[in-house]
Amino acid sequence: MDAMPSASLLSQLTDRVQAVTGIDPEMRPATKPQFGHFQSNVAMRLAKSEGRPPREVAAQLVEKLELDDLCEPLEIAGPGFINFRMKQEVLAAAAEQILEDPRIGIPETDQPQRVVIDYSAPNVAKQMHVGHLRTTIIGDAFNRVLAATGHTVIPQNHIGDWGTPFGMLIEQILDEGLDASTLTLADADALYKRAAAHFKDDEEFATRARARVEVFQSGDEESLAIWRQLIAISLTGFNEAYRRLNVLLTDADLAGESTYNDDLPVLVKELEESGVAVIDDGALCVFVDGFDAPLIVRKRDGGYGYATTDLAAIRRRVRELRADRIIYVTDARQSGHFAQVFAVAKKAGYLPENVQVQHIGYGMVLGDDGRPLKSRDGSAAKLSDLLDLAEENAAPSIALAAIKYADLSSGLQKDYTFDPQRMTQTTGDTGPYLQYAHARCCQILRKAEAEELPVGPITVLTEPGEQQLALLLSRFGEVVEDVARTLAPHKLSNYLYELAGQFASFYEQCPVLKSEGDVRASRLGLVLATRRVMSKGLYLLGIDAPERM
Ligand code: ARG
Repeated sequence: MDAMPSASLLSQLTDRVQAVTGIDPEMRPATKPQFGHFQSNVAMRLAKSEGRPPREVAAQLVEKLELDDLCEPLEIAGPGFINFRMKQEVLAAAAEQILEDPRIGIPETDQPQRVVIDYSAPNVAKQMHVGHLRTTIIGDAFNRVLAATGHTVIPQNHIGDWGTPFGMLIEQILDEGLDASTLTLADADALYKRAAAHFKDDEEFATRARARVEVFQSGDEESLAIWRQLIAISLTGFNEAYRRLNVLLTDADLAGESTYNDDLPVLVKELEESGVAVIDDGALCVFVDGFDAPLIVRKRDGGYGYATTDLAAIRRRVRELRADRIIYVTDARQSGHFAQVFAVAKKAGYLPENVQVQHIGYGMVLGDDGRPLKSRDGSAAKLSDLLDLAEENAAPSIALAAIKYADLSSGLQKDYTFDPQRMTQTTGDTGPYLQYAHARCCQILRKAEAEELPVGPITVLTEPGEQQLALLLSRFGEVVEDVARTLAPHKLSNYLYELAGQFASFYEQCPVLKSEGDVRASRLGLVLATRRVMSKGLYLLGIDAPERM
């Protein structure tokens, strides 16, 4: 059997009209129910460029458009608008399709890609903070949406588990005579701060810490044992955060900086041999146009930095993970870093033309003073504190919905204010409001079930409230497809918000359980379709859809 067409009624109509007009008809929702469902000013725009009377152009277009299968006879209004009213049976069939299609209208791509998503990536011996909250939530939504549209997603959790901080951490542990395996992540975080202060104030300690980096990185067993313990306790803490955040990441997705250690000397050799990297003032550098400073592949002291590891990561992601597309989710301030890493990777031949790389930089989370959210000691706010704050206002699943929705409902590049009281409201543009709309559908369907009422098929849709709901439901698949392409989850959030509002007006205008026969079955069918779209949509944002609230 052929796949069912998943295009929304709106886009089917747009395509059919554009085939005749040659330009985008820019369909808009009708301003009043008596004008039908959509209106277009395409005739007026054509008339202007052709220098003819608009109503005459409109009449001619109406003549030429063959839309009898989709629409009632077209009407011309005012100065030359064309009004479109979808046929009732077409609307009913579109809504019914949501009930019948196991994919709920989400199209499956005909060009499946292997997509690496680099997200979350907290640092060992440090608690996750507000920045990691955003990358984890956003990356998780990308993961869900890309997988749902038929791509193979390969999450890569590039945790910071290597580098110079371990010199001071290990020295501090030895100084204090601590058993690292007994620490919690919060203890390790406090240890990190003590070590950093010690490093700053005590020259002798700083010298030892620097020497320790060398010893540790050349394979000293005592140092490595402490390092492994720090990783183990950090992972326990990260996994606890992931469970609390209800995200898809698992240990299988871990690919920390240290996993590239063996690749680094190989990479250096390749870059030296190809002449892409050159020695400059003792450091091995790659120069690319458009950047103030070169990318330093190997420092003068022989050490490797953050950028070198990112080069090695691209190399592996292309060669071993066979990525077609690589997406990095970090805060916007790292965009310069990634632009340079991508340019160098291209120059080095690690990043072929056909592999798409993207850095998605997100904005900051602000406190009510309009400044970046901080914890009491002045460092970035801790992720667990934010969850606690939201939970002061609502149950965990609702608090989490509130946070995720606030994070995903406006353009990712924008900053937003963390306002737990507003975010957890069950009215307005919030996550809990969407959960509530879903729970409302569940409640109606429970009653229908108790009374053994037939749910669907959707056959009669005479009321404007029913028709608008059906139109909106038929757009779901396209919205998801758009988000997969543009990586803009706020489009899905906004759609679901609109759906919740449309459902509320439908429910206000059209009695469901108190109606009868085919009308009741159709209305219950609409409730079920709304429930399915809402629950799937929330799932794609990583938000729970409880059946009762
Ligand atoms: N660990 C870094 C941080 O906490 C983020 C790493 C992002 N990913 C990458 N491939 N550089 O800021």
